[in-house]
Amino acid sequence: MTMAGSSHAPVLEANALRLRFGAVEVLKDVSISVAPGAIHAIIGPNGAGKSSLLNCLSGFYRPQAGSVTFDGRDITGLRPHLRAAAGIARTFQGIQTYPSMTARENILTGFHNRMRTGMFDALVYWGRTRAEEEAFAAEAEAIIEFLELEELRHAVVGDLSYGLRKRVDLGRAIALNPKILIMDEPMAGMNPEEKGDLARFILDIRDAKKIPVVLVEHDMEVVMDISDTVTVIDFGEVIAVGAPAEVRANEAVIAAYLGAG
Ligand SMILES: Nc1ncnc2c1ncn2[C@@H]1O[C@H](COP(=O)(O)OP(=O)(O)OP(=O)(O)O)[C@@H](O)[C@H]1O
Ligand SMILES: [Mg+2]
Repeated sequence: MTMAGSSHAPVLEANALRLRFGAVEVLKDVSISVAPGAIHAIIGPNGAGKSSLLNCLSGFYRPQAGSVTFDGRDITGLRPHLRAAAGIARTFQGIQTYPSMTARENILTGFHNRMRTGMFDALVYWGRTRAEEEAFAAEAEAIIEFLELEELRHAVVGDLSYGLRKRVDLGRAIALNPKILIMDEPMAGMNPEEKGDLARFILDIRDAKKIPVVLVEHDMEVVMDISDTVTVIDFGEVIAVGAPAEVRANEAVIAAYLGAG
């Protein structure tokens, strides 16, 4: 425990977010509170606003109203790269790896966000010292081992299976040494074995780094297995929040999303 009460304070909070694109109200009044070390799932029907919410958390979308607080600090107006530098790591829906680069090279790109504030725009010259590069190389190696990618370190990512490419992308995200990891449908398109592997890595990351993980996920078995808290969004509104078993039994959630089956 550090400061009084700080160990229980939410790591990331969104308060009363409103987001619209033209006439479309995507988020009507969305709040979410992510506790330290929690696996926090966000579920809901297609088009409910889940990815848009993640985009507000990571700074890619700017809500018209409401606020986002990270680590006790208001970050509502902060641009995405500065949120990344502050420790908010993100993986996206679909594949985001560089296909012609190796697994190791892809992971190394994750260190680029970890720079001193203000360096981001120096795209041509990263201004790294040799010592820094060596430290990152060693850390990349640790990530490769952690994610059991040793055999594939020099494999070209475009040749890997979908599940392995997603694992490499996860390596890229944790190279940020994040204080929170945000993942959009990490298991979509994976076979059951790949899902099991990724679920294990997500839990391992939470345990090893003591950070919360926010994930949008449609696979209810995975959600029920690994999450501590579930927030359910429907038509841009939170219709339920709670422990997985609670949420699964919630009538409104069954009606909007889960169905009777
Ligand atoms: N940049 C944008 N411009 C216009 N409309 C957008 C934009 N981003 C999202 N939307 C709209 O916001 C609504 C919610 O989309 P969002 O991608 O957040 O849903 P989702 O819950 O992630 O759905 P899915 O489960 O299919 O991924 C949709 O109607 C979508 O068309
Ligand atoms: Mg989405």
